[in-house]
Amino acid sequence: MPHRILFVCLGNICRSPTAEAVTRAKAQVLRCDVQIDSAGTAGWHIGKPPYDPMQDAAAAKGYDMSNLRARQVTPADAHAFDLIIAMDDENLRDLKAMGLPARLFTDYALNSGVTYVPDPYYTRDFDGALALIEDCADGLLSTL
Ligand code: 4NP
Repeated sequence: MPHRILFVCLGNICRSPTAEAVTRAKAQVLRCDVQIDSAGTAGWHIGKPPYDPMQDAAAAKGYDMSNLRARQVTPADAHAFDLIIAMDDENLRDLKAMGLPARLFTDYALNSGVTYVPDPYYTRDFDGALALIEDCADGLLSTL
């Protein structure tokens, strides 16, 4: 059973920390024993908390992300996690180039016919990103 899960996006301040917080909260409700972390392929925001508008959207749905801090993915993550989950094809390509096998989060989507998690840093649709992440998290946890 994959119980150490790493979520990866580009900046680690919008999508992957949200996936981390949402999946952790849902796993707790299900009493599912998982260790969850998140990281970015880029190092621009290392040490920073999640982006305020993303935190606000998550907090409105009961997810507290305020204690999370961004970090950059490293090759050692290949050994530290059972499952590495990317938000889009660019993340997937960057991870593969580092030798990290990964899957797309949207592969687990239950109700959303989408092939990637659009980046709300650019789309500004923070509520939409959160809803998609909740759906993918439900699907992922149903496989564990
Ligand atoms: P994320 O979104 O990959 O979902 O964290 C981004 C956040 C910041 C930037 C790009 C994407 N940025 O260019 O600073």
